[in-house]
Amino acid sequence: MRVLILGGYGAVGREAAAALLEGTADEVTVAGRDPAKARPVPGARALQLDLRDESALEPALSGVDAVLMCVDQDNARVARICLERGVSYVDVTASAGPLAEIERLPAGNATAVLSVGLIPGVSNLLARLCVERTGGQEVEIGVLLGSGEQHGAAAVGWTLDALPELGPSWRARFPPPYGTRTVHRFPFSDQHTLPRTLGVRARTGLCLDSRALTAALPRAARLLERPRARALAEAALAKVHVGGDGFAVTATAGGHTAAFSGRRQSRATGLAAAEVVRRLPELPAGVWHIEQAIEPAGFLAALTAAGFHLAHYDAG
Ligand SMILES: NC(=O)c1ccc[n+]([C@@H]2O[C@H](COP(=O)([O-])OP(=O)(O)OC[C@H]3O[C@@H](n4cnc5c(N)ncnc54)[C@H](OP(=O)(O)O)[C@@H]3O)[C@@H](O)[C@H]2O)c1
Repeated sequence: MRVLILGGYGAVGREAAAALLEGTADEVTVAGRDPAKARPVPGARALQLDLRDESALEPALSGVDAVLMCVDQDNARVARICLERGVSYVDVTASAGPLAEIERLPAGNATAVLSVGLIPGVSNLLARLCVERTGGQEVEIGVLLGSGEQHGAAAVGWTLDALPELGPSWRARFPPPYGTRTVHRFPFSDQHTLPRTLGVRARTGLCLDSRALTAALPRAARLLERPRARALAEAALAKVHVGGDGFAVTATAGGHTAAFSGRRQSRATGLAAAEVVRRLPELPAGVWHIEQAIEPAGFLAALTAAGFHLAHYDAG
């Protein structure tokens, strides 16, 4: 399989590239605006490509079997061009708008898998596990991110853009060492797609590993409405990494909680994306969210083999 990873030397893309080069892919090309400035991904070809240039993508698709999209830039347009050319498409975006647009595209003979990564991605699969196990119709997803991890610039930008939409809070149960935490509703796409794919109501909440920083999130959300505050926050987050690099994602439905945890969310996201790309040849043509196309237990077991943990808890 020949794979083109857009945003391929970023924090998520480079993890996916490394995993694909370990076996699945015959050739991996990592693309971005300035590969010369990036740390090279060993074994991958590098390609200079700016997705803002609308004519740049089509020539890059020559001889490519699958595109893995690891950047938020015109995702629906990129997906449409891939599917029109019979190139499979996998996207890690957490933005609900582009995902809803891609859902409506005709796939022809190609396969597109959306909601790939950790949140969305693993969170959708945990939700499906709990719903199938209990028949519960209300899903609560909790996300805990390490404030000490060096998250990619695009992921930090996405989070800052989303912060003003921070909503009401609730308590969510996370695996050790985190325990029960307050999470604030956050606009991850999983809660918007699960009603369509599983027919359930869903909400997703975010907290940080630091309880103090989590408590400060509503105030930070209000501050970000001020001019210049976003640029200052982005610069600070690029330099300051206080806390750990652990993460945990839990889904609860019908009194049952399934939890996935480990270290370095960018690595987990990249490995999950690579695992989806690896499975493309066995998936039917069409546009799918991960929970529609992939059986959760086997997929999550493949990730736990890479050092992540899966746990189940019942209420009480
Ligand atoms: N589903 C999930 O669980 C999950 C988790 C984490 C992140 N994400 C998503 O994954 C994406 C990547 O995150 P990340 O942490 O890897 O960010 P990152 O490290 O900043 O990587 C983004 C990459 O995209 C490239 N890029 C930016 N603008 C581009 C353009 N116009 N044309 C071509 N390439 C461009 C960047 O390289 P240049 O600047 O050199 O072009 C960079 O290599 C984000 O969309 C984020 O929201 C999803």
